[in-house]
Amino acid sequence: MTILGIESSCDETAAAVWADGSILSNIIASQTIHEQFGGVVPELASRAHHKTIWKTVDQALREADISLDQVDSIAVARGPGLIGSLLVGLSFAKGLSISQERPIIGVNHIDAHMYANFIEHEEVYPFLALIVSGGHTRLVQVDELFSHKVLGKTRDDAAGEAFDKIGKLLNLDYPAGPIVDKLSKEGDPAFHDFPRSMINKGLDFSFSGLKTSVLYYTQEKGEEFVQQNLNDICASVSAAITDVLHVKLKRAVKKTGVKNIMVAGGVSANSMLREKVEEMAQKMDLHLMIPSIQYCTDNAAMIAITGALKAREGRYDDLQIKPFARLA
Ligand code: KG4
Ligand code: ZN
Repeated sequence: MTILGIESSCDETAAAVWADGSILSNIIASQTIHEQFGGVVPELASRAHHKTIWKTVDQALREADISLDQVDSIAVARGPGLIGSLLVGLSFAKGLSISQERPIIGVNHIDAHMYANFIEHEEVYPFLALIVSGGHTRLVQVDELFSHKVLGKTRDDAAGEAFDKIGKLLNLDYPAGPIVDKLSKEGDPAFHDFPRSMINKGLDFSFSGLKTSVLYYTQEKGEEFVQQNLNDICASVSAAITDVLHVKLKRAVKKTGVKNIMVAGGVSANSMLREKVEEMAQKMDLHLMIPSIQYCTDNAAMIAITGALKAREGRYDDLQIKPFARLA
């Protein structure tokens, strides 16, 4: 079976080909136009998707060395995401579905972040997933394919959003997450003790207090101090965020007794988080699944593999399928 995956939920236009258990190509066209605005501008994102989608799909097919005729189904992200951006990918996929007479499979972008782990890890259930992206932070128990129970979620900002907003306070470019990560490697995580909200109880998260705390800290210390100690401040912020994330995951393991754990979404690329979770898995004798960096942030390989899992179950959609910005 050969699946073409298409992803356009935010600011990445992506296409990938999955065939018989392997990813044959994974093309990502990142939109750089938003950098100057310090965040994604939805209207510009839709236009950029529109401009690049055909080229991206074509490149994915070429790299996989297959023709459109060989594609059995078209999997496409249908939400959550920016409605205009989703519309471009979904409309394009519908066009292909009509012209090629092949079924379409709508994929939940957050599910896809999670199932991206099955590109490189064997499928295993039950598992606990810590999903940490730019728009979502949740802990989910998955007992079987597509059967998800939410154990905890953020009450305000998502972890990636916290990295990005705090990065903005530190005058870093958007998205700041990878930059904060890089600077942290040269810094001291114990330089300043930023708050770890709600770390001592429950499985919900809260990151807006940390953001406010960094705001007050930078105002009090002044720009020169911040620039001189940027690596240490970034390392201290990374420590605060990753401490909360890995402690909550550990609590969920203790509460449920589930021994298979997974980290997914853009923030799973974070080196401090990866280190902490790996250490925890070793100490607690857990089976850890975490994607290689290329499958952490938005990509279409994750859409293609989730499409393949849905196809296996016969879960196809028809042309009535609509994009849904707030898809649960
Ligand atoms: O999953 P993703 O690519 O898109 C969404 O679905 O939101 O996640 C993007 C988020 C951004 O907030 C970005 O700053 C963050 O993931 N991110 C990171 C790293 N790489 C990406 N945050 C911390 N460390 C990283 N290495
Ligand atoms: Zn994403």
